[in-house]
Amino acid sequence: MPVGAPHATVLGLGIHRAERIVPNADVIEAIDSSDAWIQQRSGIRERRWVGPDETLETMTLEASRKALASSGIDAAQIDAVIVATCTWTMQTPALATKVAHALGTQSPVAFDISAACAGFCHALALANDMIRAGTARHVLVIGAELLSEMTSRTDRGTAFIFGDGAGAVVVGPSEVPGIGPVVWGSDGEQFDAIRQSTDWREVLASDSPEMPYIQMDGGTVFRWASFEMAKVAQETLDRTGIRVEDLDLFIPHQANMRIIDAMARAMKLPEHVRIARDIAEQGNTSAASIPLALGRMYDEGQAHSGDLALFIAFGAGLSYAAQVVRIP
Ligand SMILES: CC(C)(COP(=O)(O)OP(=O)(O)OC[C@H]1O[C@@H](n2cnc3c(N)ncnc32)[C@H](O)[C@@H]1OP(=O)(O)O)[C@@H](O)C(=O)NCCC(=O)NCCS
Repeated sequence: MPVGAPHATVLGLGIHRAERIVPNADVIEAIDSSDAWIQQRSGIRERRWVGPDETLETMTLEASRKALASSGIDAAQIDAVIVATCTWTMQTPALATKVAHALGTQSPVAFDISAACAGFCHALALANDMIRAGTARHVLVIGAELLSEMTSRTDRGTAFIFGDGAGAVVVGPSEVPGIGPVVWGSDGEQFDAIRQSTDWREVLASDSPEMPYIQMDGGTVFRWASFEMAKVAQETLDRTGIRVEDLDLFIPHQANMRIIDAMARAMKLPEHVRIARDIAEQGNTSAASIPLALGRMYDEGQAHSGDLALFIAFGAGLSYAAQVVRIP
């Protein structure tokens, strides 16, 4: 029987922001909107979209290499690679297998998971469990999305929301807890609230096939996220055995600035807890949003090694996952 580590911890972070900065001015015409409306309703000023030489794979590799470097772990020590994404356009094989090979890892277990915007927190929870169960020692966890390719430029409810990027962490064994218990779940009754516009079979049957895009019932998602996720956040703190005052950082999925504010109010976050607001300049990058948001907090001097952060992510499914993390 494999022998697991007593605990697991995040050893290092790497991020990659897509290179093209796209201000609101560039998206408003096609949806009859305005910079003021987008900022007021979503908090987004600009988003990042891929440049001509960037792909989902290149962004994933960039973030992964930086995560390995910052954690001081060699690619050969990685025995599992998990990619959370909803924008890898190959049904099979998994992007994780390609990335693992390109990084020079040695035949690790490698797979993708589909949990939309909650994917990074799902993958982190799996890594934590694998290390403690002894089925892996060092796990590379990646959230990566190329959403500009799956965004309709004329859909008023989504054209201004999404961005591209990737974030990765290396998770390894530890004597002390670095990742708290996960609270996760889904509400399949709301399966349609955020969805791919068309099934691939419908695309093939069409006379003028088009890339499917992400559609959503903005109001439904907004209400669900603002109220239900604050309860999940509290449950996560309770299971971890800490109080909201013990947190240093609140890093929710970057879906909408008003959702972030509503959650912070519902949780009664004390003033000293720094709140991630990466969405303003990055847009919503689904599975990549939490590591990207953490990256900005380091860059801006808001996050420091050893800080206690609450990660909470939610999205299509409607799926969600949250955990408390001691950041590297
Ligand atoms: C998408 C979202 C910003 C829309 O904001 P909203 O306040 O719900 O907007 P509504 O759809 O209720 O529309 C309000 C008004 O703005 C108008 N409107 C809608 N989209 C618009 C746009 N892009 N530009 C300008 N006006 C717009 C509507 O026509 C409506 O006008 P009316 O009041 O005259 O009828 C918001 O619902 C949201 O962010 N939801 C959650 C999104 C999310 O988190 N997604 C990711 C989950 S992982």
